[in-house]
Parts: sequence; C-alpha cells; structure tokens
Amino acid sequence: MNVHIIDHPLIQHKLTIMRRHDTSTRSFRQLVNEIAMLLCYEVTRDLPLTTEKIQTPMEEMDAPILSGKKLCFVSILRAGNGLLDGMLNLIPSARVGHVGLYRDHDTLQAVEYYYKVPSDINDRLVIAVDPMLATANSSIAAIQRLKDGGAEHIKFLCLLAAPEGVKAFNEAHPDVELYTAAVDRELNEQGYIMPGLGDAGDRIFG
Ligand code: PRP
Repeated sequence: MNVHIIDHPLIQHKLTIMRRHDTSTRSFRQLVNEIAMLLCYEVTRDLPLTTEKIQTPMEEMDAPILSGKKLCFVSILRAGNGLLDGMLNLIPSARVGHVGLYRDHDTLQAVEYYYKVPSDINDRLVIAVDPMLATANSSIAAIQRLKDGGAEHIKFLCLLAAPEGVKAFNEAHPDVELYTAAVDRELNEQGYIMPGLGDAGDRIFG
C-alpha cells in the first residue's frame, strides 16, 4: 500500500499527549502546530534540489537549493487549518488553497461548501492536509476536486488514519502518496477512529 507511517519519536510522543482526553484545547492546538512542522519535514524529504552559485563570506560555491515552483499546501477545512499553520512555519513561501468539506453525520459522505486554490496548481507539488483519515470520504473527495482542478502531483498528509480509510484512499487514488503518524485499530459505527483522539476539529477549535 502507498502509505508512509512517520514514526519519529518526537511525533509519536506528541501524538500520545494529543490523544489524552484531558489535554486542554490550548495544549492540543500548540501540539498540532508542533507536530505539523515535524510531519512537514518528512513529507518534503524527497523534494528535488538543484545547485546555485553563491558567494559565502569566504569564497564562491555551488550550493544546494530547492528547484522548481513553490509548493502548494491545501487545507481541508476546517481541521486542516491546524496542520496548515505549523507547515507554514516551516515553509512560509508555500502557496495555500482551501477545500471546505464536512462529513454528513448520518451518511458519513463528504459535502463540499468551499473551494479556492491557486490558479497554477497544475505546476506545483500539492500537499493536501487534514488531521484525520477515517472513512476517507472527505480526503478522497478533496483529492478528486484538486485533480479536477488540474493538480497533477499530489501528496496527502494526515495525523491519524483508520485502516479502512487507508484502504479506501489507496483504491481511489493509488497515485497519491499518503503520509500519517499512525494507523489505528479500526473505525467505530459512528465513523470515528478507535482509539483515536476524538474529533480533531472540535479539539482544535472547540
Ligand atoms: C473530520 C476530519 C476529516 C473528516 C474525516 O472533519 O477533519 O475532514 O472528518 O472523516 P472521513 O475520513 O470519514 O471523511 P469534519 O467533517 O468533522 O469537519 P471539521 O474539520 O469541519 O470539523
């Protein structure tokens, strides 16, 4: 399966604190921000480099520098905004798009209410972010929307996934690499990840 589990000790430690039921909104928000930077570091590990001739205070050298166009981060609203802030701390020059989706609580289907992305996403590596991949209905719909909008090179980054969601996501978008800090045991009947961390949007925003 096309899934990368990012098991860096700092990420796992922070995730455990986020899972605790008594972690405050303030701490949870701070941890999402911190963990997003670490996840961003991993998801961008294979960005292509070129070299540029520069002058150090000592001499001239050919130094490595990122090649190609700036990245585009796409936040799947609203919980994606928690990850987005941390990622922008690390890559402040990234372009940003937003896809607004909510999960219908009865059908668990994703309902779109907003879509706005940079006009040239076809030229950029797009990293779509949402903390939770449960049934994957939201992320599958968001990625499809981005593809329909012209995106050709897409990665998807989440914090926590359910095995059912990983499978569905891979079947729908086998070309999109999926990055997550953990794959939990299962989905419950209400479509929540178990043991999970609850509703990420509610824990970030209240
Ligand atoms: C949550 C979460 C994902 C989605 C995951 O969003 O942030 O977007 O559910 O579930 P799925 O994989 O089964 O689609 P929610 O609908 O609660 O909206 P919110 O981010 O606005 O809180």
